[in-house]
Amino acid sequence: MKRALITGINGQDGSYLAELLLTLGYEVHGIVRREAIEDASHRLVNILHLIDKLKLHVGAVDNHLSIYKIVANVRPDECYHLAASSFVSYTFDDEASVLSNNFTATHALLASVKELSPHCRVYFAGSSEMFGNARFSPQNESTPFNPRSVYGISKLAAFHLARNYREHHKLFVAAGILYNHESPRRGYQFVTRKISTTVAKIHLGLADRLELGNIDALRDWGYAPDYVVAMHAMLQQEKPEDYVIATGVLHSVRDFLSEAFSVVGLDYEAYIHTNLDHFRPGEVVSLCGDSSKARHTLGWQPTKSFKQMVKEMVLTDIEHLERNQ
Ligand code: GDD
Repeated sequence: MKRALITGINGQDGSYLAELLLTLGYEVHGIVRREAIEDASHRLVNILHLIDKLKLHVGAVDNHLSIYKIVANVRPDECYHLAASSFVSYTFDDEASVLSNNFTATHALLASVKELSPHCRVYFAGSSEMFGNARFSPQNESTPFNPRSVYGISKLAAFHLARNYREHHKLFVAAGILYNHESPRRGYQFVTRKISTTVAKIHLGLADRLELGNIDALRDWGYAPDYVVAMHAMLQQEKPEDYVIATGVLHSVRDFLSEAFSVVGLDYEAYIHTNLDHFRPGEVVSLCGDSSKARHTLGWQPTKSFKQMVKEMVLTDIEHLERNQ
């Protein structure tokens, strides 16, 4: 039986990945913060349905000793490094913690694996934000990086570190350069979940407006459960490489709004209020991914359309709210 260790197991991607690996017969270990264990009904909500099948370890991913002890204890065959500060629009005050969470944590994990489990295969979660203000569109694995946010810079630094461990220490480290991916488990601060949950509230008479920033912003939005399939496939290859994972289709926030409100038979224009605080000074213009390599080498492809995904998110939020009313 293969043993997998997942950082960020209670997040959207971690929870779908844990489900996938359990289905494939893995022993699945995850790292969670002590606060999360103490407030399990909220912070572990994405994995509560799996909790009896998982082996959870309390630790802080940016603390080398903590990670070292967990890797020593688990001795994983595969390690998926998903934990990160993942909200792009943080303020100046958050810069140090974003850099520390995203870079130091990657170092702690790679260094521990190198010392203790050098045969362990590692997945690193890169991001389209590393391309930032990309010079070419769509972007593929050869497109030059040009990050526009501290988040993008932190991910790019960690990505280079991961490559360095692959090239100099001969670790099997594969990196996914993932574009936006959403689901009913998406965090509430991201625009898609903010929209789906507010549409659900409006439908149930619990809200009457939705404040947003730039609704003409464009994103390449995929379906999160599809993206964890790609993560796993990357670690089953003969050689560790980098892969762009994306749908290759751009939609605006306005498109998302229109689809989401149409699920409940409403016109979004009647509910939207612009809030300038949600505009981003360093907004990336049009990140659109070319995932030909993943499609060809991994046999990967998206399974759900944008429209189907939006509908699932809105209907799930309605169901959650109705259950908790
Ligand atoms: N969050 C948010 N809130 N975004 C808004 C709002 C709002 O009220 N109004 C408009 N937007 C626009 C943002 O300006 C951005 O252009 C777009 O909606 C998407 O924003 P987010 O959902 O916050 O995602 P993101 O693109 O910044 O980052 C996500 O995708 C990256 C690429 O995969 C995150 O998941 C990152 O961690 C990830 O790396």
